[in-house]
Amino acid sequence: MLAGKRIVLGVTGGIAAYKAVEVCRRLVDAGAHVVPVMTAGAEHFIGRTTLSALASEPVQTSLWNEASPIPHTRLGQTADLIVVAPATARLLAAYAAGLSTDLLTNTLLATRAPVVVCPAMHTEMWEHPAVQANIATLRSRGVHVVEPESGRLAGGDVGAGRLAAPDVIVGAIEAVLADGPWVGQHVVVSAGGTREPIDAVRVIANRSSGKQGYAIAAEAAARGAKVTLVSTVDLPVPAGVQVRPVETAAQMQAALQELAPTAQLVVMAAAVADFRPVQAAAGKLKKDLGVPQIVLEPTPDILAGLGAVKPQGQILVGFAAETDDLVANAQSKLQRKRLDLIVANDVGAPGVGFQHDTNAVTLLRADGQSSSVELTDKRSIAKVVLDTVNEIRGATHNTAT
Ligand code: CTP
Repeated sequence: MLAGKRIVLGVTGGIAAYKAVEVCRRLVDAGAHVVPVMTAGAEHFIGRTTLSALASEPVQTSLWNEASPIPHTRLGQTADLIVVAPATARLLAAYAAGLSTDLLTNTLLATRAPVVVCPAMHTEMWEHPAVQANIATLRSRGVHVVEPESGRLAGGDVGAGRLAAPDVIVGAIEAVLADGPWVGQHVVVSAGGTREPIDAVRVIANRSSGKQGYAIAAEAAARGAKVTLVSTVDLPVPAGVQVRPVETAAQMQAALQELAPTAQLVVMAAAVADFRPVQAAAGKLKKDLGVPQIVLEPTPDILAGLGAVKPQGQILVGFAAETDDLVANAQSKLQRKRLDLIVANDVGAPGVGFQHDTNAVTLLRADGQSSSVELTDKRSIAKVVLDTVNEIRGATHNTAT
């Protein structure tokens, strides 16, 4: 996606300028040709040498360059994308007003390439009506805005305005540059373990971290899909992903029943509790009342329900967490829940499944084909899952025509 793309990385004068170095490194690692442009303000925060050493070309800072007259038109016309990270209130104002005050603002006005701005500033500035009006103007012109996060700011106070994380910025760039079969598709992913209340403070939970579901959501968004993630966990939200927070199996089922009918792909990576207390106690169960008798009932099988009403053309993917008879158990779930694909993992094996950053899986398709992926990071597993969905679509299409 990023390989061979020419990306102008604009860096303006904010304390978060140091994070632009990491964005630069990740873009270069992904095969992009990164052309860095710094404003005078940025030079107060990071040195030119750092960016020049990591980027594909030396940093440019000035309109007045004898070796390359009118650098802004060359930069603007040859870019596949321009990203400004961090973008200060001043940069946003100048860009929204069409003011060409320096090399970066000239370049932004001299391009027809997509532009991604990543604002970073203090909460008071970010929430100021003038800044918000400039953001609205830029959005209305098709500029992509990677919203700042909430968190600890430079002065030690906490609030909205912190530059988005480098992987979120890179994910947003990938999504803007994406082309191919995923662009515009609606993908729904579930992630994390459900929590079923016993009383006001206690729950029945499981060890699922949600990392595999988040990796699938991030990969689908990077490929250009519109992704909704129904999640029980609080992990960093990948760029371009909408999160629907839920807690119980019943809430997850309600969210999926609403979202799945319009999705081209549904991936059920969540670990849903199979049983829940028939009734949660309203207050906290006190221990001097003795050992409580907790009566359980089965939860609905969400995935089987989605399989029963699956719209034509939708691909439904389930996961199977197994400790014994991996293939036979997963095969039976594939058929029973009417899935197109099941991703089975042996959760008893070292480094596999719950809470790890790595996974090893066997993929079983409804058409009988199967494959295995050795222990690797969860994002790589996500790529294989989405590539396999593409293959299933191709095979279905070829049989239909
Ligand atoms: N699943 C679901 N609703 C449930 C239980 C499971 O939607 N109440 C989904 C999971 O999200 C997963 C797939 O079904 O995609 C298989 O889950 P798993 O826990 O491996 O299987 P179960 O059907 O629960 O069977 P068992 O616990 O007996 O292995």
